Amino acid sequence: MKKKLLIPSIIVLLTAFAVAGVFLLMQLYIADKSFDTLDRALKSLIDLQASAAYNGYFAWTKMYDLVMQGNLTEANALADEIPKSFPLVASAEIIQEAPPEENFVVGADGELLRIVYSIRDDDEFRTAPNAVAVTIIQASKLLDIVSPNGFKIDMTGGRKTTYGIHVSANLMHISLWNIIAMVLLTVLFASLLIQRYVKKTAFFLDTRGLESIIYLFEQTEKMSASHSRNVAVLALFLGKKLGLRGKKLRNLYVAALLHDIGKIGVPTNVIAKAGRLDSKEYMQIKQHPVISARILKSFKEFERLSPIVLYHHEREDGSGYPEGLTGKDIPLESKIIAVVDVFEALVGERPYRNPIHSFSAFEKLKKMPLDQRIVKVLIDNYSELNSFQPPRWVLSYSPWLLGV
Ligand SMILES: [Fe+2]
Repeated sequence: MKKKLLIPSIIVLLTAFAVAGVFLLMQLYIADKSFDTLDRALKSLIDLQASAAYNGYFAWTKMYDLVMQGNLTEANALADEIPKSFPLVASAEIIQEAPPEENFVVGADGELLRIVYSIRDDDEFRTAPNAVAVTIIQASKLLDIVSPNGFKIDMTGGRKTTYGIHVSANLMHISLWNIIAMVLLTVLFASLLIQRYVKKTAFFLDTRGLESIIYLFEQTEKMSASHSRNVAVLALFLGKKLGLRGKKLRNLYVAALLHDIGKIGVPTNVIAKAGRLDSKEYMQIKQHPVISARILKSFKEFERLSPIVLYHHEREDGSGYPEGLTGKDIPLESKIIAVVDVFEALVGERPYRNPIHSFSAFEKLKKMPLDQRIVKVLIDNYSELNSFQPPRWVLSYSPWLLGV
């Protein structure tokens, strides 16, 4: 089996087991509830039968007198009428035995129910001391009435009912509809799980790719990479404040993380130069957004981010580079990155100058041709940055490096 089919196959298999398990549990639950209902119905039916037989034949002075006279033959002849009136009763007879205290007592004798009655006069004042009536009922007949398909007599493995008959539910009864329902549920749940798995895997691969790029970037441009991580988290914070959500926010974050990756293509001595850049060096520096955009374009998953990084040095008044766009033509995400890029450069550590305080940085930002709406959101919310909790998908997030 191909490796990439292994996980989905395992998911389908486990889902099928889970669905079958749930189905079985439901069957057990239903069987348990059904048993209680069956037991109550069975007891009522037996009580009804026994009570009717008792009141009709054994709380009867004529029967009582015959028994007291020792004329069991005639008493039994009367009792023989019972199976004719009560179809569930298989036999009825009068025998010599000590009577129960109650009107009747029900007991199980294998698959038969044996009901023993006291024999009394009409007023139930007197009880025959040495004789009882016994009727036999076949429990299977009762079950057929109360539960035609669900339960069967099972004297060895069944559950004991109130009157001692053991019954079990036919759990193995799985209909075609049950199987169809199980297959449909398995397909539904398994496809949902597989979708989730594929999405997670894709995201994992995406982020793994991204991690590798960042790693390479860090090896060559240590300063730029840590600056980019700061810019990315700050852009994320600001993006959220500006109402970006979901994919847009994630795109902003990744674009911010990679906005300066094009610096790989600019000579290190120019990047790290402490003094003033000459015009040639400045031209080289101005190429980095173009190189960043070109790099991102070559990755299918980051292609859509290339315009964002391409324009992160554009300015509202058209004084930026590489194309000199004005405010309305610059993507919002590029504007956000532009603001936090400048801000981080001012307050972050640099080899050629000391960082300035955030308040001084705000004053500088206010005078720059940046989108002042974004600058204001940054200034207004900056105090919340310390308590900002980045989303779970943020890569290698290290606590905010800037002092707030
Ligand atoms: Fe840049």
